[in-house]
Amino acid sequence: MSTQKTEIIRRTTVPQITARKNGEPIVSLTSYHAHTAAIVDKHADFILVGDSLGMVMHGMDSTVGVPLDLMIMHGKAVVRGTQRALIVVDMPFGTYEESPQIAFRNAAKIMKETQCQAVKLEGGARMAETIKFLSERGIPVMAHIGLTPQSSNTMGGFKTQGRDEDTWAAHEADAKAVSEAGAFAIVLEGMVEPLAAKITKQIDIPTIGIGASAECDGQILVLEDMLGLSPWTPKFVKVYGDLGNQIEKAVAAYAEDVRDRSFPTDAQTYK
Ligand code: KIV
Repeated sequence: MSTQKTEIIRRTTVPQITARKNGEPIVSLTSYHAHTAAIVDKHADFILVGDSLGMVMHGMDSTVGVPLDLMIMHGKAVVRGTQRALIVVDMPFGTYEESPQIAFRNAAKIMKETQCQAVKLEGGARMAETIKFLSERGIPVMAHIGLTPQSSNTMGGFKTQGRDEDTWAAHEADAKAVSEAGAFAIVLEGMVEPLAAKITKQIDIPTIGIGASAECDGQILVLEDMLGLSPWTPKFVKVYGDLGNQIEKAVAAYAEDVRDRSFPTDAQTYK
């Protein structure tokens, strides 16, 4: 009889993320790609397949042009590459705003085709009805307020929110509305610290900050930004790697080797 025990690996669940409110900080990064997701999976509580992939992977100027099929394709890759982290896939612009029914159809398509565990959508009070509709029907929703990149055209760019205290009440109302509608966590993006702190204290679900200070219950960054692979770095990013320069050096060394015929050598050759 075999005495070997097989380790059963279970993914972090939505209730486990929600239960981390006021607890151990929640760790998250974006990923769009199976191999990097496999690395992030060892360390993150959840991985977001963010629609920032339109800008980071596909060179778009904003996230507005990202199609649903692209989110599904990258979502599948990330789910295949991971075992432990909860996987959240962004709903792209135009796939959920029109009605709760359309949002349900598209969110269900994302979940069925990618096998992810939750979706994220942007917007506060205006999306509360949709968040309630989806979460009551088995689709866990992560909300996203503050700087919402899909609204960059109406916002006039990517602007830090809450610099004017007169605007705080609207952001606080957004956070309360999505929390009461059933969102399991909420991303606060590009928000001044005192407002992020106030919202984090006021609501019962975890806040995940990106450019929203250490007052949040967790943090998320775009992986390529923190690896030093993005062409510019926002103020709120701490850069932990130098991948851009490392890739450049490696590519230059390869080009030189090919040109002077020092690659391939016998070691890389089938004799
Ligand atoms: O698309 C994305 O990567 C995001 C994060 C910035 C939170 O929404």
